[in-house]
Amino acid sequence: MRTALITGVTGQDGSYLVDFLLAKDYVVHGVIRRASTFNTQRIDHIYKDPHNSKARFFLHYGDLSDGTGLRHIIERVQPDEVYNLAAQSHVKVSFEQPEYTADVVATGTLRLLEALRDYMQNTKNKSRFYHACSSEMYGNAPPPQSETTPFAPRSPYAVSKLAAYGYCVNYRESYDMFICNGILFNHESPRRGETFVTRKITRAMTRIKLGLQDKLYLGNLEAKRDWGYAKDYVEAMWLMLQQDKCADYVISTDATYSVKDFLNQVAKQLELDWEKYVEIDPRYFRPTEVNCLLGDSSKAREELGWKVKTSFNELVTMMVEHDLELARQERTLLDAGHIL
Ligand code: NAP
Ligand code: GDD
Repeated sequence: MRTALITGVTGQDGSYLVDFLLAKDYVVHGVIRRASTFNTQRIDHIYKDPHNSKARFFLHYGDLSDGTGLRHIIERVQPDEVYNLAAQSHVKVSFEQPEYTADVVATGTLRLLEALRDYMQNTKNKSRFYHACSSEMYGNAPPPQSETTPFAPRSPYAVSKLAAYGYCVNYRESYDMFICNGILFNHESPRRGETFVTRKITRAMTRIKLGLQDKLYLGNLEAKRDWGYAKDYVEAMWLMLQQDKCADYVISTDATYSVKDFLNQVAKQLELDWEKYVEIDPRYFRPTEVNCLLGDSSKAREELGWKVKTSFNELVTMMVEHDLELARQERTLLDAGHIL
């Protein structure tokens, strides 16, 4: 059985990756942050009591800001594959917390690379490393963007991801480590965090449909993104680490839609006129915007045999159906007199 270590295991991608790796018979270890409230909702469905002899999924407290803790986890787990997904991943928040974002996203990746390098040197074991880069690194570079497009980051988040990308390339070249940068374009799902625009829209519009809220406040509706389904994308992460040689890959659907397009599609499915409910709030504008992301994933399709399985419309339907069910549950509780 192969052993994988995932940072960011409680996030959208981390949770799908655990599902995927357990189905492939891996033993999976995840790094989880200590929080005063539970932050394991996305992985509760797969977590078994570690005392259970059948358990193959284990959690360890750790943080990308704590290099010593990361070292201890790597020494204990002895991973064959490391997936570094942890990040302060919100672009707008990175303008408000640039130092923290740099510490976790850029220096945090460096801490993990150093811990892994020492572990490999001391034990002579070989581990493979996947790093979650981002299409945000392209900024306003003209679309379509591929592995050869020059980077032009436009947020503290994107600058930090680019630094982490650079560390990964440097460690690959300097120490002959097997490291892949996955340059993933936006990917969404019913497990998407509720402050990212797609989920914010599906949550709000389904609640509006059931009379649970009146308004949806948004920022720039003209920005275009290449939106895929997160479950399809974690397969690409794994495929990168199964190759003979390590390399960097763009993962995208190769189609782009505006925030307004997304809104239109959601409203169509719910038979609502979104213009009655949506208001523009300048607080959601960014100091610098990325106008159009559109990937060219031909390298991943040719070399990894990876392909998109879920269309834009299927993705929207899945998210709307999921959030409609959540709204129905809220409605039922409210009608039964519960204060939400
Ligand atoms: P997400 O849902 O925001 O999850 C982020 C994960 O990182 C969570 O598990 C979070 O823990 C953890 N984390 C945050 N700060 C940490 C720290 N200081 N130490 C340890 N863990 C920390 O993000 P995602 O959508 O799954 O994305 C996964 C990765 O891919 C991220 O690196 C993101 O930047 C990158 N990415 C995402 C997309 C996308 O469209 N989703 C596209 C390109 C790249 P808590 O649960 O405790 O908050
Ligand atoms: N979050 C948010 N909230 N975005 C809004 C809103 C709003 O109310 N209104 C308009 N937008 C616009 C943003 O300005 C942006 O152009 C677009 O919607 C998408 O925003 P997000 O969903 O926050 O995602 P992102 O593209 O900034 O970043 C995501 O994708 C990156 C890959 O390109 C994140 O997942 C990053 O972690 C990831 O690297």
